[in-house]
Amino acid sequence: MAQQRVMRLRINGKEHPLALDARVTLLDALREHADLPGAKKGCDHGQCGACTVHIDGERVLSCLTLAAQAEGHEITTIEGLAGADETLHAVQAAFLRHDAFQCGYCTPGQIMSAVACINEGHANSDDEIREYMSGNICRCGAYPFIVAAVREAAQQLQQEQTA
Ligand code: FES
Ligand code: FES
Repeated sequence: MAQQRVMRLRINGKEHPLALDARVTLLDALREHADLPGAKKGCDHGQCGACTVHIDGERVLSCLTLAAQAEGHEITTIEGLAGADETLHAVQAAFLRHDAFQCGYCTPGQIMSAVACINEGHANSDDEIREYMSGNICRCGAYPFIVAAVREAAQQLQQEQTA
């Protein structure tokens, strides 16, 4: 049997000591071992974006990241995005308002990507949003509504920052 060791992953502000094989991806660690199935596996090859999570606030494809690489860093998943009182993040609320999802499978990745896209300053126009959200595929074709949701959330967050 492959060798396991205890990795201490800090996910959504909580320490998770997990006994993992060195080859386990962050996506599988989250889904199979940490009981956080929000990040989805659409391809496992870095092509769909359904597995997008944040490491230290930056978006990464968790299917292409080893759990071991995330040790000592802050991991955020869709489950950790809402406030402690369960108030939805502005992007989550905007997705609901704009019907920016249908089956919901790509949605956790879309939302994590959108939060990062806004933080990166890449949400200034519809074209820019389309380009910087192009790593997240949606088979349901929710793209126009996703763009509208990201644009609105970006404006809202900007207003809050300058208020
Ligand atoms: S599951 Fe990671 S990009 Fe598709
Ligand atoms: S909502 Fe179904 S794949 Fe995007």
